[in-house]
Amino acid sequence: MEKILVLDFGGQYDQLIARRIRSAGVYAEIEPYSSLSLSGLKARGYSGIVFTGGPDSVYEPGAPSFDPEILGAGIPVLGICYGAQLMAFLAGGEVGPAESGSEYGRAELRLCGGEAGAESGSAPGADGGGPACALFEGVPAESVCWMSHTDCVRELPEGFVRAASTPGCLNAAFYDPSRSLYALQFHPEVTHTEFGQRMLVNFVYSVCGCSGGWTAGDIAASTVSRLREELAGKRVLLALSGGVDSSVAAEMLRRAIGDRLVCVFVDHGLLRKGEADLVERAFRPRLGGGLIRVDASERFLGRLAGVADPEEKRKIIGEEFIRVFEEEAGKLGHIDALAQGTIYPDIVESGKGGAAVIKSHHNVGGLPERMGFSEIVEPLRMLFKDEVRQAGLELGLPEELVMRQPFPGPGLAVRITGEITREKVRLLQEADAIFREEIDAFLRTEGGFRADQYFAVLTDTRSVGVMGDYRTFGYTLALRCVTTDDFMTAEFTRLPWDLLERVSGRVTGEVPGISRVVYDVSSKPPATVEWL
Ligand code: XMP
Repeated sequence: MEKILVLDFGGQYDQLIARRIRSAGVYAEIEPYSSLSLSGLKARGYSGIVFTGGPDSVYEPGAPSFDPEILGAGIPVLGICYGAQLMAFLAGGEVGPAESGSEYGRAELRLCGGEAGAESGSAPGADGGGPACALFEGVPAESVCWMSHTDCVRELPEGFVRAASTPGCLNAAFYDPSRSLYALQFHPEVTHTEFGQRMLVNFVYSVCGCSGGWTAGDIAASTVSRLREELAGKRVLLALSGGVDSSVAAEMLRRAIGDRLVCVFVDHGLLRKGEADLVERAFRPRLGGGLIRVDASERFLGRLAGVADPEEKRKIIGEEFIRVFEEEAGKLGHIDALAQGTIYPDIVESGKGGAAVIKSHHNVGGLPERMGFSEIVEPLRMLFKDEVRQAGLELGLPEELVMRQPFPGPGLAVRITGEITREKVRLLQEADAIFREEIDAFLRTEGGFRADQYFAVLTDTRSVGVMGDYRTFGYTLALRCVTTDDFMTAEFTRLPWDLLERVSGRVTGEVPGISRVVYDVSSKPPATVEWL
């Protein structure tokens, strides 16, 4: 399969580069610059390489770099921002602080010699009438690009030709067509660069010679075939949480290594209504005896008895999870690797470079260290959530599993204030299911709002009510619905009153024990999405 390598030097937009190339129909994967040698890179058979941006200065000691022979390896390279400076630096050009100071934001890009022409740089022998720069096919002579840099390429290396400038940056684009090396000081991957996508398309098709045709659905097939090779003869253990990521990882691994995959699904008794059965229904037919469902609810609820402090609840659940998992793993005999559903944003959040870092708040984050696994397999580490979902659907996983909203590892424990009891968990499961069902139905039939996460919280506030001729003294249920892009900040969703009224009526009518329903109108910040 043809593929492009995005060699990551720590830029802010690296993931966007890979995404844009994939959306142009060619598979692209990101690797930290330090994780690959030149020979390792060559062995992977990339059609082209992109050097990304990054925060460093190429001329500082210890700055991220790569084997200079990459430039003569016969593989097309596109350098972007830091990557452009690195390319120039490795090829013998001069890089230094931009004389006109740092340039940030919108800039007017002007192609040298008009749309088709190329102008000589400082390279001896370059002539002003050289071949048109392939990156700029179909790009007008003047357009807008987006810059973000403090250094610049002051002098082009030998053999390179200037292709475009901005008022603040003479060498905004340059190239050496004989070696298929191309460099852009600006960022083609951001939408503010008017013809940026066109430039990336030109790179992968005209320069790298890709034929395209790849779609996000192909992720599934290509990952499965890669895993099959990498895990030949190995036994792999996966902690299946029932969330989207671990479910998709499980299905990919199952297809790749069959019964050498064992999935342990720990039901801590704090899942949403019907969730444990949903996971089992989806995976039992696929995994058979390779799925171990551990009902550890007694154990978890026992340890949580009498605990009201949220942090203590989280700690107990994390520890207990590891203990149960260790016990189950201990019964399985030799296992070669632990698999996890880490996705690309998890890696970005944990800091990049070097070996894969396991996110500390990942549900099974403590496992690899505690269990001494020498090998960690992360089949989804290149993908974004929407790509993971698409792969899951492609693999035939049920839509209700694949399209579900995020659910915290500690489960309903962080949605019950005060002490947790089996009865409280049951009340919350019932009420939460009603709320989610009504929102889903409303969105399907009427729409009119966007809801990224919605759930119920059982508070420990009880209040007086009246039903029939009787006094009630039930719990207060809080409904939470937020609109957010990244869950770092969130706004409460302005839900229609009639929807809230219907939910309130159903919950108080169908879930005895809850006598009052309130709607949470807090945004994040100052609140968080979860209550605890
Ligand atoms: P907060 O409450 O921090 O939540 O605003 C942001 C997002 O993270 C989810 N969340 C968790 N996910 N383990 C997880 O896997 C956790 O411990 C955890 N706590 C919060 C939350 O549901 C929301 O989507």
